[in-house]
Amino acid sequence: MRLDKLISNATAFTRSQAKAVIKKGKVTLNGEPITQPAIHVDENAHVEYIGVAIKKPQLRYIMINKPAGVVCANVDKQHPTIFDSLFVPRKDALHVAGRLDIDTTGLVMVTDDGQWLHRITSPKHQHQKIYRVDLDAPPSEKQLRQLSEGVQLKDEERPCQPASVELIGEKQIRLGIVEGKYHQVKRMLAAVGNHVVKLHREQIAHIKLDEALVAGQWRELTEDEILLDPESSTGDSA
Ligand code: URA
Repeated sequence: MRLDKLISNATAFTRSQAKAVIKKGKVTLNGEPITQPAIHVDENAHVEYIGVAIKKPQLRYIMINKPAGVVCANVDKQHPTIFDSLFVPRKDALHVAGRLDIDTTGLVMVTDDGQWLHRITSPKHQHQKIYRVDLDAPPSEKQLRQLSEGVQLKDEERPCQPASVELIGEKQIRLGIVEGKYHQVKRMLAAVGNHVVKLHREQIAHIKLDEALVAGQWRELTEDEILLDPESSTGDSA
C-alpha cells in the first residue's frame, strides 16, 4: 500500500494532509525519515508519525442481509444503498463482492481486502452462489433439466455452465450457479420459459447468510468464513 494511503487510512488525516506531513519529513519508515508519499510500504514495515507508531488498519469483511429496494452501490442519488445502514468508518474503502439487483434480497458482502474480493468474485475460482427463487409457475421437468444442463441466454455466445437445481416448493427452486452474468438468474428462468417473482441469495462459496440477521442488518465475517480454501471450487451445499 502507498505510504500516504496507509497514513490516511490509519489516522484522521485526509490523503492530502498525509502527503503534506510526509513531505515535511514528519514520517519515518523503519526508522528512516521518508519524504515520498507514493512509496510502497510492505506488510511488516514500521511507520511512525512524529515518533508515534502508526497501526495499520485491520482489513474488514462484512455480510449484509440486503433488503429489497436498496442498491449495491457506494453512492446513489435515487435509492438507499447497502452502505446507508452500515455504521463503520471509511465506508468509501469498502467494495461489494457480488452485487444484487435492487429487488433481490439476501447475502451481500463488502470488504476492503482487494485480493479477497478478487478471489471470491473472479469466475476463475468458480465459487458457487446459491439462490432461493420464487417462480411465476411450477417449473416443468424439462425446465429443471435445461437449467441443470446449462441454459443458452439471449445475447450470450456460450451457454451458462450447468447449475445445481433443487425443487423446494410448488413454485420454488434452489439454484446454484458459478458465474455472475448480468441478471443471470432472471435471464436463465426467462430463457426456459418461466419467470422469477422473488429472488433471495442464501450463500456464496461456503459463506451462508446468517439467519439471525433480519433484512438490513449486518455483521463481520468470522475467521472461518473469511478463509477461502484454494482447493475448493464450490460451496458445501447445492
Ligand atoms: N441474478 C439475477 O438475475 N439478479 C440478481 O440480483 C442476482 C442474480
